[in-house]
Amino acid sequence: MFARSAARALQPSARLFSSSASRNFKVAVLGAGGGIGQPLSLLLKNDPLVTSLSLYDIRGAPGVAADVGHVDTPSEVCSFGHIMSEVNGYAADQLDQALEGVKVVVIPAGVPRKPGMTRDDLFNTNASIVRDLASAVARVSPEAHILVISNPVNSTVPIVAATLEKAGVFNPARLFGVTTLDVVRASRFLAGVTGTQPSECNVTVVGGHSGPTIVPLLSQLSHGKSIAGEKYDALVHRIQFGGDEVVKAKDGAGSATLSMAYAGAKFANSLLRGLNGEKGVVTPTFVKSPLFADQGIDFFASNVELGVDGVEKIHPIGEISAEEKKLLDACLPELKKNIEKGKAFVA
Ligand code: NAD
Ligand code: LMR
Repeated sequence: MFARSAARALQPSARLFSSSASRNFKVAVLGAGGGIGQPLSLLLKNDPLVTSLSLYDIRGAPGVAADVGHVDTPSEVCSFGHIMSEVNGYAADQLDQALEGVKVVVIPAGVPRKPGMTRDDLFNTNASIVRDLASAVARVSPEAHILVISNPVNSTVPIVAATLEKAGVFNPARLFGVTTLDVVRASRFLAGVTGTQPSECNVTVVGGHSGPTIVPLLSQLSHGKSIAGEKYDALVHRIQFGGDEVVKAKDGAGSATLSMAYAGAKFANSLLRGLNGEKGVVTPTFVKSPLFADQGIDFFASNVELGVDGVEKIHPIGEISAEEKKLLDACLPELKKNIEKGKAFVA
């Protein structure tokens, strides 16, 4: 996995596997000037599998690219943005250029929460940002793998899917909602409660990415199985509402950025390792999924094996406890509503 110890946490893996797999791992970050975009760009610059970085934002991308571009790893860094001409005020947008030849597009563009807001409260602003970025990907780099970070993920992923579908280029194997922060938190918090190492607490988190749609399957781990009663309820609540902790602590200045950048880079490294031909790369992510499609829920996060074409295999959720069944029952109707809202926006 990406991190086996704290010391190795920032050293993504780059074992070489398939010679047939593409080695052109040009990665674009859309929203690179933001709270997540900046540290995420830095971590991607440090990923040995990234050959080239395209940093795009409507503001701030040149500064981030100049800064990150001095890091002594081999990848190239280029910036793209809105260019205002001082002569006639004409604004040229370089989004299409940013997307040329990219293999992976990571999208953290959009507004973050303030205290008192839900992720769904971001929908009105972020839905159109994500839709417009997805349209550009459909036009310029329709084969790219897309990693959606912008909230509300439960709706923005269906928005991207519907936008690509409209353009006739949707490939479900190449679209991912990044739910890795839930996995990172679950692992950290479980380790804290049990006095173990996070590396021994690799919790599978299924469902979606908001409050009750976040379903940690603690019973599937020996360390997790032992937690019961109030301790269990408190741990599940902390995993489901960990985002609120950060929003509250930042007191109006945004939501998780550093841990999210870490989680985004971790997921990107997993995907790149799969694309590079490494076998057995399995991690939870929110994808178009058959698991609950019979209930009208066609996007769902579960363990997914990543391969040379993206999604290789969607794992079933496996055996779950009675408590987890209750959590899943609470997740599904909310998730369905979020997905339908995203689809309706594009329709
Ligand atoms: P931020 O405001 O610091 O940065 C957002 C960036 O997006 C800004 O630089 C802004 O200029 C840029 N942007 C806005 N519209 C754009 C467009 N059309 N094209 C390109 N760039 C554009 O916000 P942040 O803290 O980085 O958070 C970004 C998003 O990520 C939020 O929606 C937040 O809720 C979400 N988020 C998701 C997770 C997750 O687990 N998936 C975790 C944390 C935050
Ligand atoms: C998180 O889980 O930290 C993110 O989704 C940001 C948020 O709004 O909480």
